[in-house]
Amino acid sequence: MIIYSRNRRLRTTAALRSLVQETTLSVNDLVMPMFVMEGKGREEPILSMPGIFRRSLDLTVKECKELYALGVKAVNLYMKVDESLKDNTGKESWNPDGLMQQSIRAIKEAVPEMVVMPDVALDPYSIYGHDGIVENGKIANDATNHALARMSVSLAEAGADIVAPSDMMDGRVAAIRTALEEDGYHDVGILSYAAKYASSFYGPFRSALDSAPKDGDKVPSDKKTYQMDFHNAREAMDEVHKDVAEGADIIMIKPGLPYLDIVRTVRSEIDLPIAVYNVSGEYSMLKAAAANGWLDNDLAIMESLTCIKRAGADMIFTYAAKEAAIIMGK
Ligand code: PBG
Repeated sequence: MIIYSRNRRLRTTAALRSLVQETTLSVNDLVMPMFVMEGKGREEPILSMPGIFRRSLDLTVKECKELYALGVKAVNLYMKVDESLKDNTGKESWNPDGLMQQSIRAIKEAVPEMVVMPDVALDPYSIYGHDGIVENGKIANDATNHALARMSVSLAEAGADIVAPSDMMDGRVAAIRTALEEDGYHDVGILSYAAKYASSFYGPFRSALDSAPKDGDKVPSDKKTYQMDFHNAREAMDEVHKDVAEGADIIMIKPGLPYLDIVRTVRSEIDLPIAVYNVSGEYSMLKAAAANGWLDNDLAIMESLTCIKRAGADMIFTYAAKEAAIIMGK
């Protein structure tokens, strides 16, 4: 039998393969999440995330310079907040001299071109480890929106380029957009975690910030009343359409690798830029396997990130951003 059509013809050499390559990953696609803590000259490794650290602000700024030199032009910021500053209102999140506000100012001063995207959610500031205010054993949606809007304005005032609400309250994009417009921050964008699932893959992140929901009387022990159920896909599209209508500039889907079907569907239905979060647990799994010699670290990183792009992402939040930039620069 004669085989006329042979897919292997175009795989014969590296040059041919590169000619027909459909997806390209570049440093332009990467966003590095960073954990900041109080102090000076301090760096603590996060044991469940090999290669990732909590750093004081001076060392965070130094790291931002290195990232920028490698071509990573966006950072996503999380604060490790002292227990004494936590309460149920999250008011430390809009303290003009809070650690987040100081961090934004310091990074923008040292690396003005860096796109600074602070996280917007109450969990690092909450005594209960929740993304919202707890009232009568429930997460109070509208009161939380008010707090998130206040936090966003404070972050815009500190110099944030884009605020990134990761809380999953209903209507918070509209609340934040309204507050930003009213205060004149017309150019500050909103990257909305539109389809964020209640996922076990956030475990290492929560240990990094000590922000896991606290078990207790009248406090929900998980985030399932606001984050999405992983059994659902259509609902993600509904979430996305609402955030687009409320004024989001970029749409986030999270987690990444186990949720690429969602990424593909959203890509086919909306034209806004899509961000995908390759979350802490995905990173930890890869690192654990690589440390055991079960996976090739560099190849697995490049494959994972490229596949997230192939599914439709325009940008990827990943703890491997620096490593990937170094690998691509080789
Ligand atoms: C909280 C927040 C979480 C992450 C980013 N922002 C954790 C959560 O929702 O409990 C997780 C990121 C990761 O796992 O890498 N607003």
